[in-house]
Amino acid sequence: MAESITIIDNRTGQSIEIPLEHGGVAAAQWAKLLPGIWFYDPGLLSTAVCESSITFVDGEAGVLRYRGYPIEELAEQASFIEVAYLLLFGRLPTEAELASFGAEIAEEALIPEPMLHQLIGAFPPDAHPMATLSSGVAALAGFYPDARDVSTPEQRRRHAIRLIAKVPTIAAASYRHSRSLPYIYPTRADYVADFMAMMWQLPGREYNPDPIYVRALDILFILQADHEQNCSTTTMRTVASSLADPYLSCAAACAALSGPRHGGANEAVIRMLEEISSPDRVADFVAEVKSGHGRLQGFGHRVYKNYDPRAKIIKEVAYQVLGASDASPLFEVALKLEEVALKDEYFLSRRLYPNVDFYSGLIYRAIGFPAEMFTVLFAIARTAGWLAHWMELLDQNAKLVRPRQLYTGEAIRHYVPLSSRG
Ligand code: CMC
Repeated sequence: MAESITIIDNRTGQSIEIPLEHGGVAAAQWAKLLPGIWFYDPGLLSTAVCESSITFVDGEAGVLRYRGYPIEELAEQASFIEVAYLLLFGRLPTEAELASFGAEIAEEALIPEPMLHQLIGAFPPDAHPMATLSSGVAALAGFYPDARDVSTPEQRRRHAIRLIAKVPTIAAASYRHSRSLPYIYPTRADYVADFMAMMWQLPGREYNPDPIYVRALDILFILQADHEQNCSTTTMRTVASSLADPYLSCAAACAALSGPRHGGANEAVIRMLEEISSPDRVADFVAEVKSGHGRLQGFGHRVYKNYDPRAKIIKEVAYQVLGASDASPLFEVALKLEEVALKDEYFLSRRLYPNVDFYSGLIYRAIGFPAEMFTVLFAIARTAGWLAHWMELLDQNAKLVRPRQLYTGEAIRHYVPLSSRG
């Protein structure tokens, strides 16, 4: 017999039996028994907002799979572009498909010239690059008149390729502008190497990025490409559910990612490690956090109540990259912090472990990225995931997201003219 849940309304004695499907029960069925009674779930801690076949996470066991493939296998053997294809289209590409997908992305990497000079160039040099990126991504909707046309798989594919291709170009341009450096146009076939060249090549000079750094960045992009219903992906799905175009939806997802509780955490980790500055000061810092002063950035996760599998892989990459650059004193601080926290009852009892952001910033820093670019790097990777969810949502013909609230304000008040108010 199929598993089910029975709900009894104790006020009336009426009950309803609801089948359990994919580990959930349909709230619309409950609503039949309980009209006008809403399920109160701030932060959506207990709510599944959609069905999805993209990413599987088991937070208790520390498991992450994209389209069924373990993240460890993808990080070891795939490229980010291959993973982007997998997320978007549901299967690994053949050699020919991967080559043509990569070529299409390389072909689309240029951004409209006015965007470079009039939009990105208009930002103050110290603007946060996430502000520039979100604005640039939103602006693409204005530059592509077909932006609102999303009715066929071909059109959706074209938008997805455009966004994956142009986000690194906007990101690198925002960096060049902030440093008053001339823009470098995209020219290379390799996604990651091209992005690094747009960041650091000097005009007229050769630029050959260190292959260890290229591969490290590729792996970090793979690890951050998708993570089911995180805040920014849910934002993407929510905005796109109104049939807003993918560029504006992606810009909203960028905004959601920018906060320190989400994608902004990798930047916050580096600021925290800089503040601690020495392994000797770790114990005092942890004591401060435990007494309620701030949080240990890069620790804890809404879903993982175990070591984040991405953090494990990133720690290995950190050893490789930091071994290839000057040994970073901040890496020593991070290792000590992890060691102290993982022995501490406060963190153990709350099941707080290092998350994806704990070591990623150290790698970005070793490669040469300034801290304010870290969340932008996360956004480049996550664009693939956002678009996979956007495509899935359209395929599902999903409903407009429109939750309810429990109203706790005044019942009714009558307007008092300004002259009569005390
Ligand atoms: N340091 C110290 N205490 C913490 C931390 C932390 N990083 N995270 C959670 N806690 C405590 C929190 O104070 C609370 O304690 P108590 O029960 O005594 O009040 C308990 O653990 C539960 O915390 P919560 O805020 O209810 O848990 P949450 O699931 O809402 O928060 C989180 C998840 C990621 C927002 C949170 O762990 C956090 O703020 N971590 C630091 C920021 C961070 O690293 N964010 C990146 C997340 S992973 C990448 C991504 O998804 O973007």
